[in-house]
Amino acid sequence: MFKSSFNLLLLVNALILLVVTIVHNVHAQTCTSNYDIAPTLESTTCPIGFVNMMQLDSGNRTCAPYATFLNSVLGKSCTSDANCYLASLGCFNSICDYRKTRYQGDSCNSINNCADGLNCLGGYCLKFDNLKVGLGEMCGVYSATENTYSICADNRMCHSGMCVNCLMRSVNETCNTHDMQTHTHTLCGEGLTCLNGICNQVTTLKEGEVCDPMSVTSICPSGLVCRIVKAAMIDQYVCSKYAKWGEFCEGDALGCESSKIGSSGLATCYNGECSRVNFNTHEKMCSSDSHCYSGTCGSKNGMCFKLGLANTLTCNGNGLNCPGSFQCSCNGTSSSGNGNGVCFGTCTGFVQDVSICLWNNGYSNAAHMLPGNGKYQIVDLKSSAFLKCKTQYEAAYSCLKLTSKSAQVFLGEPSLPGLDISSMVMSRPPMVIMPGGAKFNSTSLEYEYPSGPTPVVSSSSISPAKSKASNNSNMVVLSQLVVVLVVLVLNLLV
Ligand SMILES: *[C@@H]1O[C@H](CO)[C@@H](O)[C@H](O)[C@H]1NC(C)=O
Ligand SMILES: *[C@@H]1O[C@H](CO)[C@@H](O)[C@H](O)[C@H]1NC(C)=O
Ligand SMILES: *[C@@H]1O[C@H](CO)[C@@H](O)[C@H](O)[C@H]1NC(C)=O
Ligand SMILES: *[C@@H]1O[C@H](CO)[C@@H](O)[C@H](O)[C@H]1NC(C)=O
Repeated sequence: MFKSSFNLLLLVNALILLVVTIVHNVHAQTCTSNYDIAPTLESTTCPIGFVNMMQLDSGNRTCAPYATFLNSVLGKSCTSDANCYLASLGCFNSICDYRKTRYQGDSCNSINNCADGLNCLGGYCLKFDNLKVGLGEMCGVYSATENTYSICADNRMCHSGMCVNCLMRSVNETCNTHDMQTHTHTLCGEGLTCLNGICNQVTTLKEGEVCDPMSVTSICPSGLVCRIVKAAMIDQYVCSKYAKWGEFCEGDALGCESSKIGSSGLATCYNGECSRVNFNTHEKMCSSDSHCYSGTCGSKNGMCFKLGLANTLTCNGNGLNCPGSFQCSCNGTSSSGNGNGVCFGTCTGFVQDVSICLWNNGYSNAAHMLPGNGKYQIVDLKSSAFLKCKTQYEAAYSCLKLTSKSAQVFLGEPSLPGLDISSMVMSRPPMVIMPGGAKFNSTSLEYEYPSGPTPVVSSSSISPAKSKASNNSNMVVLSQLVVVLVVLVLNLLV
């Protein structure tokens, strides 16, 4: 029956593997989770509104209400950041205090409270005074005691942290050369660009002209971008206005809305349309977790998961893990011998709303201000950034409360002082905020821009977004099919 003993060996091996797998699965009944309402380890996360706190007398841990925990550490002595536990706090001069959550004009106890580039002066976070320094001196240096930020005098530039004289070069002359002795640096003059160490003429194209996105010598005028404007015009790049939300984009979001928004990381090109990250509801298709408001794209059906989903996805934390941004709960214990746990959402879309709100208000390096579970809870009512986006923080915490409650990571109604997290529902807000200030009305499916008439989009160069989108979604479905087939074939081969 078997052509060779080698085949028999293979079969025996396969059977052993099967038996081992079955036995392993039968015994893999332990569920482990990072979440516990009665923590024993420092690494365990408590429900939202509670913080993993160590009792000083016994060394035992409990989930303490956020306010109780904060009172026990804020302004109190510490020996390391770990004593202050929350990521929004740090141990500064042996005292737990807020870390970089205060912005210009906000109150502060020390410079550590203030965001980067701000000093704490007379109890307020304020900009440093510019101090002009001379040739060969260090630039870009902050001095908290002098309250100065060193910049170079006029006609000089800061190169590798040192003020240098600039020598302007013309076409075909060398550029980007540096002389340490004389502190001089060569730059290309107006209308030129430095390419491989030689100044080249730059040609500025006009709107509607064919362009090459990779070219540095032939560029679109400022305010326009080199992009494909129609799905049908394969590889036909044209200098065009930036695409508005919902309009056609090719591959990445760099042609969406503006150069700042396109490169902010808050925009994405989904299904051939400019979109924000974490935008789609569960009725929509996705090909990446970042497309979904829930932060989780279903790998089986290519649809976004709902935000909560505590009862339909199982996990055990030992190989059977939750997809995307979902977390595993073993009925609210960190370890249970009773079988599988359930996955719950971490409200990625709401957290992204906070991020976008902060960005829209000019707080662009504010990743440390984002809300989350456990040690990532942040409430700072003395932070202008926090107060400007309070609505979004409240929505995020409300969502986190509801999703974790459905997974039994719950200890009663949480309290985050100063915030109202009682009245929210666990679904995408009816008006979704977009980077740059526009909003998406989930009922009318329209984008609403802040002020003035709807931005004029040249009708000759840009066809309606809807038809382009349908063309493109066919292409996406087709490419997903190809990927599935390839994966299948690879699996068969292995
Ligand atoms: C600390 O935990 C131990 C073990 O669980 C327990 O026996 C003890 O009573 C606890 N102590 C306090 C003060 O809660
Ligand atoms: C620059 O160099 C190129 C190629 O060597 C040459 O064709 C061109 O005439 C030069 N331009 C000037 C302004 O010297
Ligand atoms: C969670 O609780 C349910 C109901 O008591 C039980 O059937 C299940 O086994 C528990 N799961 C875990 C992981 O403990
Ligand atoms: C959203 O659109 C619906 C339907 O057109 C409209 O009734 C509603 O007022 C809009 N919501 C807002 C906040 O503009």
